[in-house]
Amino acid sequence: MTDVPSACLRGAAQVLRPPEPGLPHLRHDRAAELSLEGGDVTLALGRIAALEADAGADVQIDATGCAVLPGFVDCHTHLPFAGWRAEEYERKVTGVPYEEIARLGGGIRASARALAEASDETVLAQAEALAAEMLLHGTTAFEGKTGYGLSPAGEARAARLGRELAARVAQPMTMTGLFAHAVPPGTTAAAWMEEAEALARTCDVDALDIFVETVAFTNAHLARMGAIARDTGRPLRAHVEQFAAHRSVPVALEWDARSVDHLSCLHPDDVAPLAAADCAAVLLPGAELLGGEHTPPARALADAGAICVLATDLNPGTSPVASMPVIIGLAVRRYGWSVREALLAATLNAAWVLGRSDELGSLEPGKRADVLLLDGPAEHVPYRFGHNPVAAVFAGGALVHVRPDQAWRVRTA
Ligand code: NIG
Ligand code: FE
Repeated sequence: MTDVPSACLRGAAQVLRPPEPGLPHLRHDRAAELSLEGGDVTLALGRIAALEADAGADVQIDATGCAVLPGFVDCHTHLPFAGWRAEEYERKVTGVPYEEIARLGGGIRASARALAEASDETVLAQAEALAAEMLLHGTTAFEGKTGYGLSPAGEARAARLGRELAARVAQPMTMTGLFAHAVPPGTTAAAWMEEAEALARTCDVDALDIFVETVAFTNAHLARMGAIARDTGRPLRAHVEQFAAHRSVPVALEWDARSVDHLSCLHPDDVAPLAAADCAAVLLPGAELLGGEHTPPARALADAGAICVLATDLNPGTSPVASMPVIIGLAVRRYGWSVREALLAATLNAAWVLGRSDELGSLEPGKRADVLLLDGPAEHVPYRFGHNPVAAVFAGGALVHVRPDQAWRVRTA
């Protein structure tokens, strides 16, 4: 991105800045140290050049009355997937539990059938459209996962499609091998773990993941995935404590997990050890709301100094939500979090989960110029719930989106 025009966002009412440069993450008991003072931001050669104005920049943006933020990093999605499961959502809200839907062949297995039946092009086109929708809502980097393949060939295909998607979208995208997501029909969890290990050793993915739940895999399987992750030099991530408490967090910590995700049923005794660890607590309030899940002890995690993170969990089952502003709105309301806490969880700490916080997640000179101009102050993101506050998006320094009603702010030399 060295050929993009330089740009200057001038006179912003707020610019989100970390308390010191070079932080890989910021624990949530320090979130209040994030600054939202007004200022200017200059972008050049695809990077953040300075937190001051440059009257000579090619593109001048009038940012008066606006907040300027780093782009959102959505570190937990299930892209690519095929189709949706709206009929299942209706069953769920009218009283059928998720576990029962799964046992009756719905849930992950339904999405596995849809993926198997869809052509590569159909899958990629759906995922590409969702990535474009995410960009309009401020997501400038995201993660995808396998997990709907449910056969050795299907999972290997999902990993390949993830990389093909990464090559098509405007955002940097990482790919996680969620090879232990559901037990395929006709096999056992123990037998499938052999296949999952073979996939983990052969597929091109950046991280490994596993779903620990009564309908899926156990803590022993989590430990085994931890050993595979360690052996293959990939970060371990884990879907844990979503529907019930299985005390998976101590196991994940033992295996140096990069993140534990969901945590709706996190055991109170696991809050302090998680908060003290270098393991992020990735909270997914979209899945919580739409799945009628419990609310994780997010206030306690933040107060205890955990590395808290927010993500959409974008998937056709539990969270068909692509908008990080919606997720931030849910988090602030459900968790009793401040705006700074939610923004930190959606930016720097999320980039850290993906191992990219040296490049992404904060407005610091030298970092990739992924920058959002909002149409008002940062406090409006959760407050005007359901409104898309994103007025303009820079991705890698390129102005990739300007909302038509905000076009008057942009002046090109
Ligand atoms: O993160 N919990 C497991 N996996 C997904 C749901 C997958 C699905 O229902 O399709 C999740 O919520
Ligand atoms: Fe998930």
